[in-house]
Amino acid sequence: MTLFPNYKRAPITFTKMSNATWTDQTGADYIDLSSGIGVYNVGANNPTVVNALKTQADLFWHLPNLYDNPLQETVANKLGGSKYTVYFANSGAEANEAAIKLARLATKRPNIISFTNSFHGRTYAAMSATGQDSIHQGLPMLDGFLYAEFNHIESVKALLNDDVAAIMLELVQGEGGVVPADSNFVNQLVALAHEHHTLIIVDEVQTGIGRTGTKFAYEQFGFTPDIVTSAKALANGLPVGAMLAKNQFAPALSYGTHGSTFGGNPLVMAAASATLDELDTILPTISDKIAILWDKLATFSQLDAVNDVRGLGMMAGISLNIPVAKVVTDLQQQHVLALSAGHNTLRLLPPLTIPTEQLLTGLDIIKNSLSKK
Ligand SMILES: Cc1ncc(COP(=O)(O)O)c(C=O)c1O
Repeated sequence: MTLFPNYKRAPITFTKMSNATWTDQTGADYIDLSSGIGVYNVGANNPTVVNALKTQADLFWHLPNLYDNPLQETVANKLGGSKYTVYFANSGAEANEAAIKLARLATKRPNIISFTNSFHGRTYAAMSATGQDSIHQGLPMLDGFLYAEFNHIESVKALLNDDVAAIMLELVQGEGGVVPADSNFVNQLVALAHEHHTLIIVDEVQTGIGRTGTKFAYEQFGFTPDIVTSAKALANGLPVGAMLAKNQFAPALSYGTHGSTFGGNPLVMAAASATLDELDTILPTISDKIAILWDKLATFSQLDAVNDVRGLGMMAGISLNIPVAKVVTDLQQQHVLALSAGHNTLRLLPPLTIPTEQLLTGLDIIKNSLSKK
């Protein structure tokens, strides 16, 4: 065996990608409604991002974090504006590790409250914050992680005290089944955290970079989190993570407290900068595509195989009463790439740039496939 069996791989070899079209080695095209798990938000092989990468690749790839890195500052400004200070890592899990560390350092408190069915990554603190038994299986977890019930404010009140550094949540739980946070719940959570001088960490690794229709999902919930994490789509396919914290918390991540060899390297930052520029041109009209998506998805509710359709923006979950794994495989055979999530949910994360006609074709194939079940 050459590779660990920790992934289940479909027997398809892709050799080419362009926006929402992936081509396999036989030359067959697939409609991508997954964005490679929420990564290609501005489309695979986006020409602006490719050009930025090529330009930087000709200059240099790596620059240790011992020297000025103007590209990091550019991306930090595009990402966090004037209210956030930014740290760059290489993945979502790493961004969350930094967030957990910062919250503990800034508050001098030990505990983190996170939620049932959350997903924050596979490194040790991120995994310990993840509220899913299946992710913890066979492994001892770190101390200092408490789990409240998602969308249930009383369960938070029961755990909250002056030992809690931060409450950490996704505003739409992605891996947990595309479950949006209730806005009332979020309002109460923010007030409660404020009362206890507890920080709010919003994990926008999956919801960020335009996925829900705004650069970050928190913009639609009417509050400014103390800490935000980003990754996945931030460099449209290059490994990156970012932790944004309100400027007042910057001194807590003082010299020597944290670091990364590759974090914020110039190649990745060039891609991130171009991705954020692309996003700025896409977001002003994305609501039209979102409306088309949800008009179509509304018709899925009539199908016998469908329990519920939910989500936000270009992030949709179709809860099924038939095994989702088989649906994903059947769709692959019909050349549509979709994802599963949580408890039997079909998850759709199409590139924001997918042509409307291609989106509708993909949705028709899914609807037909579900109708036959
Ligand atoms: C909300 C959320 N946080 C964190 C992660 C972990 O990101 P990564 O796989 O880049 O470590 C994911 C990945 O799916 C995610 O969806």
